[in-house]
Parts: sequence; structure tokens; C-alpha cells
Amino acid sequence: MALRNIRLEGDPILRKKSRPVEEMTDRIKVLLDDMVETMDHADGVGLAAPQVGVLRRIVIIDIGEGPIKMINPEFIETEGSYIDIEGCLSIPNKAGTVERPERVKIKYLDEHWEENILEGTGLLAKAICHEIDHLDGILYTDKVIEYVDISTDEEEEEE
Ligand code: NI
Repeated sequence: MALRNIRLEGDPILRKKSRPVEEMTDRIKVLLDDMVETMDHADGVGLAAPQVGVLRRIVIIDIGEGPIKMINPEFIETEGSYIDIEGCLSIPNKAGTVERPERVKIKYLDEHWEENILEGTGLLAKAICHEIDHLDGILYTDKVIEYVDISTDEEEEEE
């Protein structure tokens, strides 16, 4: 495994649309492992492939229960709405409030190429929405309601 460079806001790759993964390859397996390592190293709760310069529909999420590797994630349904603070590993030292669905249901392929259904609320729902946005070239700053001061000691989770 290896750490990958996290692309920062202003890098045009973050604004491009990622393509679906068509088959599981050794390259994708390595990418998944590298993304987990890179996210852990950066203390993030989520990371999308374009953030490491790969335009493929892959996201990793870990809200403290172990990493979930998602290939080609897609929304099945979303419900409610909820406003909370978000940050992003590609946009350091910044955070802001964003409105997201309160509950989401998605499907994705795992590393064994099996389809999984996942329902999430709260932090998990927020992370899923934030990461899937990355696959479409959308950053949370496009949706921000208000930036918040993070110069205090309290740490925000970055995605
Ligand atoms: Ni992000």
C-alpha cells in the first residue's frame, strides 16, 4: 500500500465527472487499499477517487466503524433534510454548513464485485452524499450555506 497525493481545490481534476468501474482489476484493488491508507493518514471520514487523481466512481467511507469500499455507488432513495457542518480533505482549514438528506439508501459494488445495499443517517448519510458529489465534480463549497470558523480547537471531520 502507498499514500497517494490528495488533490487540492483549484486542481481541474476535482471538477471532472468520474467514469464507472467496468471490472475488478489488480489496479483497482491497489487503488482501494491506497485510498484507505491515504484517508486514514489524513484523518478523514471519506475519500473519493478523483481526490487522488483517478476519475473512477470509487469512494471510501469510514465513520469510525472500519472502512467501506464502494465501487459505482448510486442512490436508490433519499429522504428528509438535515443541515450540518462539512469539511473536505481537498479544501484544508475550511468548513461550512450544507443541507443534505437525513437518510439515504444506496447500492454499490464491493471489492468482491458483489452488490451491497446500504442505508445511512446522520454522519454516514452526509459522508455518502459528499463523496458521491466528488464523483460528479461537485464540491461542498458549491452548496455551502455558511462558512464556519474552525480556528478553535474543535476538530471537524474532513471528507
Ligand atoms: Ni471532500
